[in-house]
Amino acid sequence: MFAVYAAEPNADAPLQSLQVGDRPEPEAPDGWVSVTVNAASLNMHDIWTLRGVGIKPEQFPMILGCDGAGRLDDGTEVVLHSIIGDPTWFGDETLDPKRNMLTERHQGSFAEKVVVPRRNAIPRPQGMTAAQGSVMGTAWLTAYRMLFTRSGLQPGQTMLVQGASGGVSTALVQLGRAAGMRVWVTGRSEEKRAVAERLGAHATFATGERLPGRVDAVFETVGDATWSHSMRALKPGGVIVVSGATSGPNPGADLQRLFFLQLRVIGSTMGTRDELANLLEFVANAGIAPEIGLELPMERAEEGFRAMLDGDTAGKIVFTR
Ligand SMILES: NC(=O)c1ccc[n+]([C@@H]2O[C@H](COP(=O)([O-])OP(=O)(O)OC[C@H]3O[C@@H](n4cnc5c(N)ncnc54)[C@H](OP(=O)(O)O)[C@@H]3O)[C@@H](O)[C@H]2O)c1
Repeated sequence: MFAVYAAEPNADAPLQSLQVGDRPEPEAPDGWVSVTVNAASLNMHDIWTLRGVGIKPEQFPMILGCDGAGRLDDGTEVVLHSIIGDPTWFGDETLDPKRNMLTERHQGSFAEKVVVPRRNAIPRPQGMTAAQGSVMGTAWLTAYRMLFTRSGLQPGQTMLVQGASGGVSTALVQLGRAAGMRVWVTGRSEEKRAVAERLGAHATFATGERLPGRVDAVFETVGDATWSHSMRALKPGGVIVVSGATSGPNPGADLQRLFFLQLRVIGSTMGTRDELANLLEFVANAGIAPEIGLELPMERAEEGFRAMLDGDTAGKIVFTR
């Protein structure tokens, strides 16, 4: 079947191992379903996979794509939950030590078909397109958990999002605005800051710029390049929720500020099946149109990968079939 896949790990030139071609159709084990893919979105995770980060060398070749929307054989339209846990695990799937994500052990969604456990295919709400549904399972789910489960932020408080145009960042802006937060955003260029403003940011700032006041929570996916600004941005008792470290994972800790101002740093990863179901309802109820900056047929996936690698994003990048 048609598939976009990583042939082998390539730490320095990830696009060199990107292949658009044929792969065997996956078989659904007992309790799993086969989904005919209509749309799937690109995440930084796919670039980490091409680089060989978070995946064992013997797992290659690996079909990329860790979220998506498609149709079951019985015609049900579904959105994919990407976390595949141990069948004996109960409770929060993100805490299951044996969990993995599509593209880590199981073939991904940039293909004609993908197989997932039955419970990982969640009905897509009416009025949500397949392209919109495809962005929910990774970037939007991560943003939802960071904001609503992990931060403790209340409507009316001020949040700072580091990064303006990326998938997780734009989701945080749209969700935060819809939930009644004051939303501040940093972005690397005027063009990127304009994206955040259009999506509902109340104010935007250049990366590292001094803010007019302190915030209740900072949402971090950037890491080294923005961390010290994040620490300085917080009110006493404030919280940084971090789910990524695109520019590097080892920023100075600034421990004096951490203990003296009683700051909190909280990690967050993906989200549960229930959080994804709630996210789908929230987006539908609030009338949010998730921002998709680039939509391409799957055959042209390389253009999307190149845009993400170059930092040329304006919302999510979606591949359709
Ligand atoms: N833990 C999880 O479950 C989880 C889930 C999803 C993503 N993530 C991680 O979150 C990160 C973002 O993923 P994504 O899919 O949203 O990627 P993306 O769409 O490519 O977005 C990248 C974002 O990072 C910002 N950025 C990158 N380098 C920067 C730098 N040097 N200085 C300032 N800002 C910089 C960009 O800001 P501008 O807009 O200003 O360019 C942009 O907003 C990745 O590291 C990914 O692995 C983790």
